[in-house]
Amino acid sequence: MRAKASDMHSKDCVKVAVRVRPFNKRERDAGSRCVVSMVSSSITIQDPRDPQIRRSFCFDYAYWSHSGFTRDHSSLYVPEEPGGRYADQDSVFQDLGEGILENALQGYNATLLAYGQTGSGKSYSMMGYGANKGLVPKLCARLFQAIRDNQENRQCQVFFSMLEIYNEQVVDLLSRGSRTLGGLRVREEQQRGFYVEGLRTVPCESTPQVEQLMEQGTRTRTTAATHMNANSSRSHMLIILQLKQIFSKESITKQSNINLVDLAGSERQRSSGSEADRLKEGTAINLSLTTLGNVISALADVAVGKKVVHIPYRDSVLTKLLQSALGGNSRTVMIATLSPADICYEESLSTLRYAERAKRIQNRPVVNESPTERLVKELKAENARLLQRLSRLGQEGRRANDETKELRQLLAHNELQIRAIQTLWEQHLQEALKDWEQQYASITQERRMMQMHPYILNINEDTQLSGVVKLFIQEGEWNIGLCDSSSRSISIKGLGIQDRHAVFRNEQRRVTLTPLEGSKVIVNGISICQTTELQHLDRLILGSNCTYLFVGYPSERGGDDWSRYDYDYFQSELAAAEGIHLGESSSGSSQTDPSLLAVFYDYIKLMPMVAEANQMSQELSKGVDFKLEIKNLALSDSKGHDLQKDIVVRVTSKGSKQVWMWSKAKFINRKFLMEEVYQQHQAEQSEDNESTAEGPMAVALPRDKDPFWDPVEPLLLGTAHLWLQSLAFRIPLEEQLEVLGSEGTEEAILQAQLVPCTSTGLPLGEDDILIDPSEILGRRLDFQLVLEQCCGLRWIREARNRGVQIGFRLFDCSQPLYTPAVWHNVNPLLDHRVHFASLHTSQKLLDYLQSSAVVLELWGLQDGCIHLSSSLEEVRMTADGIFIIDEAGPTETAPLDTAELSCLVRALQQDLEELKSVNASLRKENHSLRDQLNTARNGVEGVRGRSVRPSCDAEFARALKVFYHSMTAVRAQLQRLRRHRPSEESDLLGLRLFVDEQSRLLRDFSEQLEQSVSALKQDVAAIVRRKRERSGIWS
Ligand SMILES: Nc1ncnc2c1ncn2[C@@H]1O[C@H](COP(=O)(O)OP(=O)(O)O)[C@@H](O)[C@H]1O
Ligand SMILES: [Mg+2]
Repeated sequence: MRAKASDMHSKDCVKVAVRVRPFNKRERDAGSRCVVSMVSSSITIQDPRDPQIRRSFCFDYAYWSHSGFTRDHSSLYVPEEPGGRYADQDSVFQDLGEGILENALQGYNATLLAYGQTGSGKSYSMMGYGANKGLVPKLCARLFQAIRDNQENRQCQVFFSMLEIYNEQVVDLLSRGSRTLGGLRVREEQQRGFYVEGLRTVPCESTPQVEQLMEQGTRTRTTAATHMNANSSRSHMLIILQLKQIFSKESITKQSNINLVDLAGSERQRSSGSEADRLKEGTAINLSLTTLGNVISALADVAVGKKVVHIPYRDSVLTKLLQSALGGNSRTVMIATLSPADICYEESLSTLRYAERAKRIQNRPVVNESPTERLVKELKAENARLLQRLSRLGQEGRRANDETKELRQLLAHNELQIRAIQTLWEQHLQEALKDWEQQYASITQERRMMQMHPYILNINEDTQLSGVVKLFIQEGEWNIGLCDSSSRSISIKGLGIQDRHAVFRNEQRRVTLTPLEGSKVIVNGISICQTTELQHLDRLILGSNCTYLFVGYPSERGGDDWSRYDYDYFQSELAAAEGIHLGESSSGSSQTDPSLLAVFYDYIKLMPMVAEANQMSQELSKGVDFKLEIKNLALSDSKGHDLQKDIVVRVTSKGSKQVWMWSKAKFINRKFLMEEVYQQHQAEQSEDNESTAEGPMAVALPRDKDPFWDPVEPLLLGTAHLWLQSLAFRIPLEEQLEVLGSEGTEEAILQAQLVPCTSTGLPLGEDDILIDPSEILGRRLDFQLVLEQCCGLRWIREARNRGVQIGFRLFDCSQPLYTPAVWHNVNPLLDHRVHFASLHTSQKLLDYLQSSAVVLELWGLQDGCIHLSSSLEEVRMTADGIFIIDEAGPTETAPLDTAELSCLVRALQQDLEELKSVNASLRKENHSLRDQLNTARNGVEGVRGRSVRPSCDAEFARALKVFYHSMTAVRAQLQRLRRHRPSEESDLLGLRLFVDEQSRLLRDFSEQLEQSVSALKQDVAAIVRRKRERSGIWS
């Protein structure tokens, strides 16, 4: 296309619109708050963690589609009241669509881009759902309307193309032939710029024709996605409308390209997926969107006058095809879609920032003249010249006979060419119409079938692709699977689908499903292996993840709403079968803790991906198995609080029994890479198939490229908490700790001690026990952590060629310390002793000792992995190997009290001290009991016996631990009391309120105190009783 020189300097900024959608089910379940507000065309977003932080943006248009709407009788979403603020599809089209149409009719190129995170409403705005038609169908309808209205003065031709860019490969969504390996090629021509070679362009005359093509394209996209196991949110969808207008009177032709782009989900751009992974994220998956971002940034810089050397159009397929739309010959509009929910804050903010940059881009649109039409014009001019010469020759007489003949031939040829060019369009149109009629017939046929037979309907993670494929189950017996040879079979493709996968039987208006040997079939979340009768709206999963909704005979279909059976529903049902629920969904599910909800949705998001990864591993003979686990983060918290949970993927190599733990992000990244390997493998197989037919073969990949492989690393098996409170009293503690895995499994029993000692490492005696821990403030405190033995190691029991190490970190040590590795032993002796000292004990350390535990981490070692070692660089040690903790010395001064309050507090402290001495004597008793028990037992049982049955001292220790624990709460309450005082300017009423509150706190305090003490007494009594019964020592 050639630009008109006169237009060359007109500049035109990219127009940007934002749109917020209603909450979806997940967001409603999570009780989401709306953090976005709009005033005319400016939009403000608020940080949910700090409402003070607000960011405002101003765009050309802002659309509030979040609230204030109803559904009318024809299922259209419209404003609740006329003139309400809700922006429906029509009003978005009025602003954005009409402008594009107007531009195109004038002969400008136009581009509309939809940008936003997956599920934010890109496809809703572009394509629409059901009656709520989006910009593309509305634009086409108006275009054909305009063409009809202008019939007198111009002749118009419209061509429609639809393509997808996935993984940098271009797929023609309207192609009738089989898919080209590696996708279509993008070429460059000087006049045309970049274009897709061999892309099908279909001439169109009416809206139904365009809609049918869009449906066809979506169907291709859906089957390609399941077939190739690709995720539509990672692909870009482009519709290209070419409009050609011939003004015969003025003998000019205008041609414009309209690009309508539904971009891939923007969330991939900040690819958190590659954090700390050995393998970089699949480069191609992100390339187009990342490059688009880079191009936009560079162009935005150009617009503000910065010097930009290079704009990276050529770095990706998408930016090549959009080159003229960005900073070139096009009028461009971007619609940025976002969710206004608090949980989407980060994504939405990043979308707004992106849009803000795009706003600055300046284009230079020009009216285009078509080369084809120029050719006609040139040919006509040439013909005129030829005719002139002919007539001159005629005058010159017979001598020119030969030349005349030649000229006449040329003339005839030219005329033929002109006619050919003009009839080409009509021919194309005829073909397209015939095509359309056929398609139309098959659509009407499908509609008729839907009214006669039961069928299964595909359900996709992307709502836009759900319900696109319908497979009918007519009377009789039907094989379903990869096979397409027999006439009585239903052919589907997808991961884990076998040649003959299952059999549908439709007899006497009842439909049953029978899985065939070795195939995976799940009905309503439950795996089946026998013939099962299907009911209307049953959920089927075939293979790893081909999801279908069963629709029964028309008589069984009520007016029920099927939309609730979406992808999430299928996965939740599957999770429920595994015992993973989302609270009580029947009653108010809005009660569910949002962090738990996030874990749940992570779980159901990863579940199908794990199934797919397992299938790929199997098909590629990788011998690796993936399993989802919920990790309890409380395990690594020194206060043992029930914090959050997280999802991890346990990867096991079946042969070598090696184990890896992958984070969610790492797994998602690896899954992309596995898909690449798998698709490559499939492509190669289909190539090879013609020559050789071999069985499955392990796919060999160099290790540095193999997404299924990792170097082995030590694995965190579980943790145990050793509470430090006894150290504050300088009381020794000996414990048998259960080491618990992330899912609550018992990984081992660990015998550990805390021994208060002298600076030379001699254990302190009973005389050194402190009644008041604060005595230690400012003084030196020495103690040893002793790790004696590990018993019953599950990790080693599973495979003997393994080892373990224990890691721990105390107070302000920046690095964890590790025991030496022990191998091949289920009950290894550790005999590891570490001496710690604080030279001037601070209040902070004291608080830490009284409220925290040292987390003992059990690390699993595997053949060939490097041991964990303590890096001693930043740790302070004395010459004789004592670790110094708590270096900062200054202690805080206690705040002053009013006389009355301090009196009160003193009384309370006395109470507390009494309790402590009770505690101390109980401990002594506990000690002597333990000694007696030990001597009694030593003769009978060996060390192993101890590990098998947790003994009474473990029970004692536990009881004491509970007590210490409750004392921590009591202490906190005391502190609260201490801090609680009336404000300076309190009046009488204020003081009275204060006194009320004070007595409430006191009441609570004494209740807690009483409860703790009596609980301890009861526990001790019960243990002593049990002990007597069990051992019979004193009976
Ligand atoms: N403006 C809107 N009004 C009503 N529903 C919407 C709107 N935008 C999106 N949705 C709904 O949200 C879901 C996800 O939207 P979709 O357009 O498919 O997201 P995307 O294409 O960005 O991944 C769909 O079910 C769609 O119906
Ligand atoms: Mg979409």
